[in-house]
Amino acid sequence: MERTFVMVKPDGVQRGLAGNVIARFEAKGFKLVGLKLVSVSKELAEEHYGVHKERPFFGSLVSFITSSPVVAMVWEGKNVISAARTLIGATNPIEAAPGTIRGDFGMDIGRNLIHGSDGADTAASEIALWFNEDELASWEPATTSWLYE
Ligand code: RTP
Ligand code: MG
Repeated sequence: MERTFVMVKPDGVQRGLAGNVIARFEAKGFKLVGLKLVSVSKELAEEHYGVHKERPFFGSLVSFITSSPVVAMVWEGKNVISAARTLIGATNPIEAAPGTIRGDFGMDIGRNLIHGSDGADTAASEIALWFNEDELASWEPATTSWLYE
């Protein structure tokens, strides 16, 4: 089983879409192991998006992520890193497929609602960046045998 880091960005929280995002991950069958509302510091935002620090949009990305609280989550399940990216959709919401979160709810690349880790290494480092070990729950959903053969 894999784990991934997912974050409802400030626009998603402000628009009241955090519950819808959680519902989609739950309905798919993924297991929630960490969840918190975070007012993101500039330092945390710069570290999280450090890979983009030379890009022209870095400053606006950091100010956006720090502008209002985010919902930080860790989800667990089969292939959850790439499956979460599939549920999330393409980076630019106007090009994202209908049925994906960005495709259904977004208009603009700078307001694309949600983040998901893009690989095994980033998932591990982002989970460690956003959560302490004691904030992650170890539990067994009663539905496991109805989701996995
Ligand atoms: P994320 O990291 O937020 O999950 O998004 P992503 O993997 O789909 O896209 P990434 O390339 O990592 O870009 C990170 C965020 O930067 C903003 N962005 N703006 N103006 C632009 O050309 C541009 N490109 C990227 C987006 O908000 C994107 O989610
Ligand atoms: Mg990314």
